[in-house]
Amino acid sequence: MLTSFDNTGLLKVLNFLKTHESEYLSGQDLSDVLKISRVAVWKHVKKIRSLGYKIESAQKRGYKFVNTTDKLLPWEISKKLKTNFIGKRIYYFDEIDSTQNFALNISSQNIENGTIVLAEKQVNGIGRLNRKWHSPKGGIWFSIIILPEFEISDATIIPIASSLALCTTIEKIHGVNSKVKWPNDITINGKKVAGMLVDATIQANKIEKIVLGIGINFKIDISKIEKKIKNTQNYYGITSLVSSQSKMKQIELFTEFLLELEKVIQDLTDGKKDKIVKKWSRHTDIFGKQISIKTNKGKITGIATKIDLDGALIIKTNGSTKKIFVGDVIIE
Ligand code: BTN
Repeated sequence: MLTSFDNTGLLKVLNFLKTHESEYLSGQDLSDVLKISRVAVWKHVKKIRSLGYKIESAQKRGYKFVNTTDKLLPWEISKKLKTNFIGKRIYYFDEIDSTQNFALNISSQNIENGTIVLAEKQVNGIGRLNRKWHSPKGGIWFSIIILPEFEISDATIIPIASSLALCTTIEKIHGVNSKVKWPNDITINGKKVAGMLVDATIQANKIEKIVLGIGINFKIDISKIEKKIKNTQNYYGITSLVSSQSKMKQIELFTEFLLELEKVIQDLTDGKKDKIVKKWSRHTDIFGKQISIKTNKGKITGIATKIDLDGALIIKTNGSTKKIFVGDVIIE
């Protein structure tokens, strides 16, 4: 567990306050028991509060733990995680340029399968096709390093499998009817609520590493982002999963998604691509629709008919069938 702030003393104070939830503990008591100075206790309490925990203080009585945080802090995630390998190691940043860049950098070292890089805010978030990805506080911005046992031919199905995992998790946890939009967007009422990015390293005909970058507009002020991106290419509207008044916490969605992702990775490892493709197809509303796609060979227009086992989109244009691997779908 690595955070962009020193967490050793902080966790000592936090855990002590948590285990004495209904009591006030004086700064002196905390200092004596935890063997840190009173100034250190005060500093840690200040940081703990800034991390979103509610700590009450009363004169002559001290501090009392009142409520937990909504932030996705590594120790809070670990308590709820039910996965076998995803999220056993987490890097957490209050702010970072891009979790994807950080994950790509550390992935060249000997890194644990399932390592997650998570940030509360990104200042240089990257979207697909090298676009800018706006990532203010309130969203869920993270990258996962996966060391898969897949063939190269499976590379294009990974975004399909991952977006399916997120779509089904959103439905399960929030009861919202969300859709997958090829290749890897998640939409609600036709507007984008989440997007994904896949960087893969290939070695000796095998996929060696995958860095899966995921951005979820969880509780964000859409109007601010909209202003900045509504005139960009292929913009089709964005939405936030929950409203600014919502009390919904991020942690349920996050931990359940990791579990769901592990399941689809297992399916891919077991060669069950058809299961993924069938399920994905039930969660999309693009089939049968007139769409256009900008590819590096120009714009293609036609009816979206299905996706193949390799994740490619099949569209029918004037009498012929085309197979598309990369591009953005615009519903006409
Ligand atoms: C898209 O364009 O739809 C993909 C967006 C992916 C954004 C996520 S946020 C976490 C990770 N870090 C980044 O810089 N980008 C990805």
